Order: sequence, then C-alpha cells, then structure tokens
Amino acid sequence: MAISAESKVAIIGLGTIGRVLATIFPKGNRSVILSARALSTAQTLANEQGNLARPLAITAAIGEADVIILTIWVPPIQAFFQQYTSQLKGKIIVDPSNPIARDGKGGFVKTIGEAQSAGQILSGLLPKEAKLAKALGTLGAASLAQASGQKPELAV
Ligand SMILES: NC(=O)c1ccc[n+]([C@@H]2O[C@H](COP(=O)([O-])OP(=O)(O)OC[C@H]3O[C@@H](n4cnc5c(N)ncnc54)[C@H](OP(=O)(O)O)[C@@H]3O)[C@@H](O)[C@H]2O)c1
Repeated sequence: MAISAESKVAIIGLGTIGRVLATIFPKGNRSVILSARALSTAQTLANEQGNLARPLAITAAIGEADVIILTIWVPPIQAFFQQYTSQLKGKIIVDPSNPIARDGKGGFVKTIGEAQSAGQILSGLLPKEAKLAKALGTLGAASLAQASGQKPELAV
C-alpha cells in the first residue's frame, strides 16, 4: 500500500478545507472523487470543477479510492471509522484534522489531553490493514488555496 501518481483519491467532507482541496486537484491536472453526506453537495462542486472531479456517495467513494482525504472534525472522524471499519481495510486515510475547538475568546483549545496524540488515538480506531497519514492540517484553508501550485518554486 503506497501512494503513487495512479492512486485514486477521494475527498470526503466538503466543508471549508475539503472544498479548497477539491479545486486544487483538478487545477493540478489530477482527477479526484468528491463525496459528502449529501450527494447533491458533491455533484454541485464536481460540476464546477470540470471533468477531472467526479461525485460519489460515501460508500462508493471509499470503495473506489486508494487514498481518502477525510476533511471532517475529530468527533465525526471517530464515528466515521467505526461506521466504515471493514470498508477502510487496505486504504490510506489522509487526516488534516486538528483536535481543537473554539474557546469562546477568539482562540482555540486542545480537545484531548496535553500529552495525547490525535494521530495515535485515531489510528487506534482503524483496522490494522489501513494506514493513517496526518497531513494538510497545518495551513489554514485560505493559505492552502493561495500557496498551492505556487511558481516558480513550490511553497512546500
Ligand atoms: N478550515 C481550515 O482552515 C482547516 C485547516 C487545517 C485543518 N482543518 C481541519 O479540517 C477538518 C475540517 O475543517 P473545516 O474547516 O473544513 O470544517 P467545516 O467547514 O465545518 O466542514 C466539515 C465538513 O464535515 C462534514 N461532515 C461532518 N460529519 C461528516 C460525516 N460523518 N461524513 C462525511 N462528512 C461529514 C460536514 O458536512 P455536512 O454538510 O454533511 O454536515 C462539513 O462539510 C477539521 O478537522 C479541521 O481541524 C481545517
């Protein structure tokens, strides 16, 4: 199980960060599967991206994809891993989530223990035949949108 140029990628969860990623793949001439709880959300966004983006329901997207970018918050990720355990076997899950919540004072607080690792907690919920990669979580959506495909030198 390794990521290659031929790997099929699905983005599941089309909120702020999912939508940015949904535009970056076709811009980079890569095909991508878009998926959300409401298929109509994925269909509308895919239509806007042209023929490199394809909408699928979540179960079908998991079935087709080699790599799943799961752009949802930590509590629903836990429920998602429990719901789709058997289908996630053999998949690479890319997880940009940060275990944080708004603190009501304009900042954020960590929602797990200071010494705990979200990656460890979440990977412990996956079947052993699946792999979890923490990635795409350090830049805000706007910075990611701006910096992707930067020329002449890539941003990262
Ligand atoms: N926004 C950023 O700048 C940024 C940057 C780095 C990392 N992140 C991380 O990315 C994750 C998402 O952040 P966001 O800002 O994009 O959040 P968001 O705008 O609230 O979007 C979250 C999306 O998750 C979907 N969702 C919730 N439960 C789901 C489920 N069970 N199955 C499928 N989809 C589900 C929601 O779709 P529905 O319409 O179905 O409710 C919603 O579209 C978070 O973990 C965050 O820490 C965000």
